Amino acid sequence: MQPINIGLMGVGTVGGGTATVLKRNAEEISRRAGREIRLFMAANRDLERAREVVGPDVPVVDDAMQIVNHPDVDIVVELIGGDTIAKELVLKAIENGKHVVTANKKLLAVHGNEIFARAQEKGVMVAFEAAVAGGIPIIKALREGLSANRIEWIAGIINGTSNFILTEMRDKGSSFADVLAEAQRLGYAEADPTFDIEGHDAGHKLTIMASIAFGIPMQFDKCYLEGISQLDGRDIKYAEELGYRVKLLGLTRRTDAGIELRVHPTLIPEDRLIANVNGVMNAVMAKGDAIGPTLYYGAGAGALPTASAVVADIVDVARLLTADPEHRVPHLAFQPDRLQDTPILPI
Ligand code: NDP
Ligand code: HSE
Repeated sequence: MQPINIGLMGVGTVGGGTATVLKRNAEEISRRAGREIRLFMAANRDLERAREVVGPDVPVVDDAMQIVNHPDVDIVVELIGGDTIAKELVLKAIENGKHVVTANKKLLAVHGNEIFARAQEKGVMVAFEAAVAGGIPIIKALREGLSANRIEWIAGIINGTSNFILTEMRDKGSSFADVLAEAQRLGYAEADPTFDIEGHDAGHKLTIMASIAFGIPMQFDKCYLEGISQLDGRDIKYAEELGYRVKLLGLTRRTDAGIELRVHPTLIPEDRLIANVNGVMNAVMAKGDAIGPTLYYGAGAGALPTASAVVADIVDVARLLTADPEHRVPHLAFQPDRLQDTPILPI
């Protein structure tokens, strides 16, 4: 059987991690996918850096459109970020009938309705496990594990950078600016870190989860956003004295009047599990009417944890491609033509 050819666009933190995991665990990954998964081609602005990561056998180009238009690429993996060039590339890949894997939450939270509609028309898959909560398989949990449930609410620590900053400020008394710089150095932060500290990144992820859980369109513009940039060491210390931890939470809840969608710093009693999620770790709680509350925990950012989710998506798509073409059902997160018109409540 022919290998599945991967076109990797963006060889930075997550793209580099993805190339590493594909190489390191090649045998297991291909066994689970049912076909050999081959890193066929990569694109990056900095060619030298990309070559160092992917090795001499993988051609590297600086124009990612070459990947999207290459007839032999089966799965396009978008790890460039942002919603300008990335949007152009993803839409073109879909138009060309290619399946897409992306970690780009901004792209999906802002343009997901259009992207999923195009993907549905073309019968291709857009997979995005890595876009929410890094390595935690939360999309799979919401979409598949809890598919029997009416989901009532989701609440979580879904920005690793903010949680890392809050933890280091509390444990070491470090300054906000120093820890943010460290988060950037470690590859946790977004290219523009204001997305992390002002709650936008958590809002993007919450928008995606709410969309899957409640079957509503992506509505990032209606999400209430308040980040951690106005907090200082005293807020954290006073909270501690009163028996609380400060955490940046994303919360979405179904009520009779509509859906709440909000991100803000929250005081959590220190004996709660979620109050003890520290550093770059994320945790998402979801309550279903049948199962009750559930909790998912793991690394929320960083090269290899995020690559774990990207490669899991590649395996999912590869399994789809391995099936008899007549029996392929593109497994999208939600069906764009069957979304509900439930209002998002103003805050
Ligand atoms: P990086 O900035 O580390 O990597 C992006 C890469 O894309 C860089 O190597 C950059 O090259 C390259 N690039 C930028 N523009 C182009 C272009 N036009 N053509 C080809 N290559 C280009 O970002 P991350 O890896 O951190 O993030 C990638 C995506 O993953 C983002 O959507 C992010 O939100 C998401 N994500 C990130 C996580 C993390 O922990 N970092 C976790 C989960 C999701 P150059 O450096 O030369 O500009
Ligand atoms: N900047 C993001 C975070 C990366 O810190 O959580 C993971 O999505």
